[in-house]
Amino acid sequence: MNKKPLSIHNWGTTAEVLVLLCLLLLFDIKVQAQGVNRDSLNRVTQQDYDDMKQKLGLKAAMRPGPSGNTSAPNAANTDEPKVRSYSLPDPLITNDGKKVTSKGVWEEERRSQVVLDLETEMYGTLPANLPAVTWQVVSEKDTTIANFAVTERLLVGKVDNSSYADIDVQIELLVGIPSAVTVDVPLVMEFGFIRWPFGNPSAEPASYFMSPYEPRWKQQLLAKGWGYAVLVPSSIQPDHGAGLRTGIIGLANKGEFRAPEQWGVLRAWAWGASRAMDYFESDPNVDASRIGIEGTSRYGKAALVTMAFDERFSLGFIGSSGAGGASILRRNFGEQIENLASSAEYHWFCGNFLKYASDLTVDDLPVDAHSLVALCAPRSVFISVGSPFIEGQWVDAKGMFLGGVHASAVYELLGKKGLGTSEFPKMGTALTSGEVAFRQHAGGHSTGPNWSTWIAWASRYWGH
Ligand code: GCU
Repeated sequence: MNKKPLSIHNWGTTAEVLVLLCLLLLFDIKVQAQGVNRDSLNRVTQQDYDDMKQKLGLKAAMRPGPSGNTSAPNAANTDEPKVRSYSLPDPLITNDGKKVTSKGVWEEERRSQVVLDLETEMYGTLPANLPAVTWQVVSEKDTTIANFAVTERLLVGKVDNSSYADIDVQIELLVGIPSAVTVDVPLVMEFGFIRWPFGNPSAEPASYFMSPYEPRWKQQLLAKGWGYAVLVPSSIQPDHGAGLRTGIIGLANKGEFRAPEQWGVLRAWAWGASRAMDYFESDPNVDASRIGIEGTSRYGKAALVTMAFDERFSLGFIGSSGAGGASILRRNFGEQIENLASSAEYHWFCGNFLKYASDLTVDDLPVDAHSLVALCAPRSVFISVGSPFIEGQWVDAKGMFLGGVHASAVYELLGKKGLGTSEFPKMGTALTSGEVAFRQHAGGHSTGPNWSTWIAWASRYWGH
């Protein structure tokens, strides 16, 4: 066959070329628009960040965090022998130096001190008189997931904005209940994404896609006769500093900047989870005393914050939560406090947290990740992480394990079993004999490959 030489003249008719040029132009405009959006987002974030630094009156400049790029000259440490020695605040010593030796003293005195420190210095306090949320069912359908009949309901939690009508917050929640049940069921709620009609259809939670070794999580829960729910964090509060004057944080502040002790995004997402819990308490198909909370990465941090601050949640499944989640911040391995306090991530926390990457250091923090895990006691919490070969070392698997190890004393004081070892286990080993559980699976940045282990462990508490 006679091939024509490749030249503009044989690409097609003039019309086709014009269509192609238009498409290229549109593509270019879209890319540029995204760039402009990103620029303006960064500009507004920087404005908010600067406002907070000024309110705090910081004298020292913000220290930059290490890089997550392992070949960068300032790469984060991923070498265990280079981890410095550090000493952790003891959750079982009261602010006036007393050793806590009884359940009563933990419950009546010490626990609230830890809550206060975590609130004031890290995650922020909730404003008083937060507006009410009214849940409405938007749609309901009977469907199947892998042959399990399920009734799925889409709900919207409309936040009362009569105090400031410029900001409208509508919390998106999907609830799936096995159709055949005649009793109220336990369920696990994930911080994630909903396909239709809300959200971005191309954005599925990592655990949805990344579990090639196991049936998907919803299917596994339904097989057990349990339900599932998905709560959309961005419908509660946007995930950037530029959004702090919108969402529920902005609504409570009537569109103004935050004060240094006020809540950050993780706490706002956790507040949304608590509002979903209010809904579960009113749903006759759901057993609100058996609700689990699950999430991965920043949503893993949010799941841990939810579990720690709202004692109605029965079980936690905390996926690859890393720094700001279950990972000990004082360990110089992977992500550091300086990264969390940077303009890219500070919005997850209260303003006061910035001090620890400027005038103060991580050693000045009155708490660390184990304090947050300890607040979950006596309720059971499962700390999950993936393989360092696949998910990398930024999340610091051992740091998360140690978050569980150092919280264990509080569990034991309350008559529960902690992790039971301080030796980091081999990949795949399930440390699930106690109320603090840990497993490093062989997959990536997802809870996916740990679901079956989690469900087996949860069955001990929720029954079969
Ligand atoms: C970044 C960030 C982490 C976070 C993660 C995520 O890597 O440094 O702290 O967990 O994003 O949520 O995707």
